[in-house]
Amino acid sequence: MNKKLIVGNWKMNPGTLNEARKIARNVRRAALTLVHTEAIICPPSVFLVPLIPRKKARHFSIGAQSVYFAESGAYTGLISTAMLHDVGVEYVIVGHSEERQRGDTDEMVSKKVRAVIEAGMTPIVCVGESSRDDVGATHFGALREQIRNSFENVPKKAAGNIVLAYEPVWAIGAKDSMVPEQIYEMSLFVKKVFSDVFSQESAVKISVLYGGAVNSRNAADIVSIGKVDGLLVGRESLNTVSFVELLKAVDAVK
Ligand code: 13P
Repeated sequence: MNKKLIVGNWKMNPGTLNEARKIARNVRRAALTLVHTEAIICPPSVFLVPLIPRKKARHFSIGAQSVYFAESGAYTGLISTAMLHDVGVEYVIVGHSEERQRGDTDEMVSKKVRAVIEAGMTPIVCVGESSRDDVGATHFGALREQIRNSFENVPKKAAGNIVLAYEPVWAIGAKDSMVPEQIYEMSLFVKKVFSDVFSQESAVKISVLYGGAVNSRNAADIVSIGKVDGLLVGRESLNTVSFVELLKAVDAVK
């Protein structure tokens, strides 16, 4: 069984380093009590260095929310994979729908995935349909294309270093998550496409996370009924009390 991964995507929050330190400290402490769950927090890049523990902390890691694929050069405002790796970042979110909306194409996503793996970190690759219909006339096909194209530049042998996050765009920031039974169906579907792109063997091993309106109340059902290997959490990851509850609830799922 894969260790469950609970990823907190802080997005452009909180407003101060002081608040960031507080949330990180509480999550790190709570993670000490976890048994088969890893807490990964992804703060804004400016807060990464002060939040990375000097010594590897138990069941706790730091991820970045974004990266650029070029090695170095004239790219004002951007950060490379080597820089993230050098300061101790272990995971990088790639292809989040909010970045895709700001212009990241599938091709750019695939270059980023490759660069992250080559630098020795694990990409958390976000995929998900923008809208759904009752019969699946369009969303399965669109999702299949997105997954295929997002791994276009990625060598087959890299499959074992990838985490997939299925985040239906319409559920991000919404009141309710996708229902766990549908999450189960979609997680099987994304694994099947991953298997076609890479191999059956790698699809059996890959961790698939769900993201979109996850909170401490729905997390355990999403993991147990939805049969996903973890969660990508936005808003609720900034509320320390709820996020710690969520971690414990997921850790208790058999
Ligand atoms: P919410 O949990 O706030 O819906 O955000 C989900 C998300 O985008 C995580 O990456």
